[in-house]
Amino acid sequence: MHVTMDTLVSLSKRRGFIFQSSEIYGGTGSCWDYGPLGVELKQNIKRIWWRDYIQRRPDMVGLDASILMHPTVWKASGHVDNFTDPMVDCLECRHRFRADKVDEMPWVHYCAATKGNKFTIPAGEPCSHCGERRTLCPDCGKGDLTAPRQFNLMFKTFMGPVEEDAALTYLRPETAQGIFVNFDNVAQSMRRKLPFGIGQIGKAFRNEITPGNFIFRTREFEQMEIEYFVNPRDTVEGKPADEYWHERWIADSLAWFQRYGLRAENLRLREHEKDELAHYAKRTADIEYRFPIGWSELMGIANRTDFDLKQHAKFSGKALTYFDEERKEHVVPYVIEPSAGVDRALLAFLADAYQEEEVRGEKRVVLRFHPELAPVKVAVLPLLKKREDIVRTAHAVRDTLSRHWPVVYDDTAAIGRLYRRQDEVGTPYCVTVDVQTVGDSDKGESADGKVTIRDRDSMEQARVPIDALPPVFLDLLNGGPWSAVASKYPAAKT
Ligand code: GAP
Repeated sequence: MHVTMDTLVSLSKRRGFIFQSSEIYGGTGSCWDYGPLGVELKQNIKRIWWRDYIQRRPDMVGLDASILMHPTVWKASGHVDNFTDPMVDCLECRHRFRADKVDEMPWVHYCAATKGNKFTIPAGEPCSHCGERRTLCPDCGKGDLTAPRQFNLMFKTFMGPVEEDAALTYLRPETAQGIFVNFDNVAQSMRRKLPFGIGQIGKAFRNEITPGNFIFRTREFEQMEIEYFVNPRDTVEGKPADEYWHERWIADSLAWFQRYGLRAENLRLREHEKDELAHYAKRTADIEYRFPIGWSELMGIANRTDFDLKQHAKFSGKALTYFDEERKEHVVPYVIEPSAGVDRALLAFLADAYQEEEVRGEKRVVLRFHPELAPVKVAVLPLLKKREDIVRTAHAVRDTLSRHWPVVYDDTAAIGRLYRRQDEVGTPYCVTVDVQTVGDSDKGESADGKVTIRDRDSMEQARVPIDALPPVFLDLLNGGPWSAVASKYPAAKT
């Protein structure tokens, strides 16, 4: 089953993942706020990316450059001149569209063959009554569209108190340029030898003409970008170094998304045609994901050659070269750029994790997040909230586990419903404290000091001593098999 975008939007709002920005004022176009669970999920994506690509690799270092940069950066990078989309305006309703996307939208049509009745016709199709194709505005069906004009996607702003041209600058439309302009600072301060990479996570802003599809295309988003510098004179395994590393990064990036749960059948590679390559690229391959809106770009991996370093050297007058000790010459490195959107990655992980199934005649919605991604790792649930000793023990378990992981306590419903709630937000394990845990002196039953752990995916249970919980969860949350826990700590048969 492939989930719809409406289902994800509704789940995200209901369960505290993502809210529309400024909702009480009617919302702002294409801006979204990450709620308590959304922010955890987003942090987890960024944390594993940073750990896998920066922390664990000896050939990588990190950076956090500022969003506002010298305006000449954007002249040098080509963004002032080339970072544009063609746009058309409706002369009647004033709506604005991307010229290249108008025919991909459903269109409103007042059909002369049916006394001017209004129809909304699927994208690209003619009217089934009169056979006409769209020529007017797709939204109002009345206005002519202007000829296409180029619209720059960078947000303009002013540095300082005076709004004049000399103070004009931009919110960065990609994090990449902060890396290029710091190439020499990083290479020198960290004594780097080629090949090496610089990674960065941060906000980027684009004044998209037609944002939309939830968090897929927004005006403010986050990127996780790597610029991997290689010596273009080197060869690796018989290939030019840039081409070898480009292949390596494509394979690594695909494997990374699969490692954290995206199914292979929902991922594919798409090579950019020569005529769609960005002005800086020798070759670009997109990793596409089968989003609820269809196959679309999840990340791009570009070979940007020496374009950016050369441009910044030209505009700044500072050499951005590397001294090749072996060949005793200065070279301008080539750069491979794996560039992923955090928000798009989150949407893909959410869509892939979503499953509906039937359990004992009832619908169960479950997010099968990889444990590293799950916003909450463990939920502690008291079986009876009237029993003060059960509640106290459950709080104590939560306190102990929350030293290591995000853990929640919930006693606001019966146990079946509490499990469903945790399934719906992807919590991998629930811990239930019951009468056996604390004993029942009235009935002369002694405490066994054990709790029940329930596994989200199999819904199986194990009965584990409270003292053993931290090592058990350490193992499970690091990928240890549930079957090992289930056989070591079998649950009593009910
Ligand atoms: N530095 C290269 C670069 O920025 P890009 O293909 O324009 O390349 C890289 O962007 C990634 O950033 C995309 O693959 C996508 O995941 C994300 N991205 C780009 N525009 C976005 C937008 N308007 N909203 C959300 N994510 C976006």
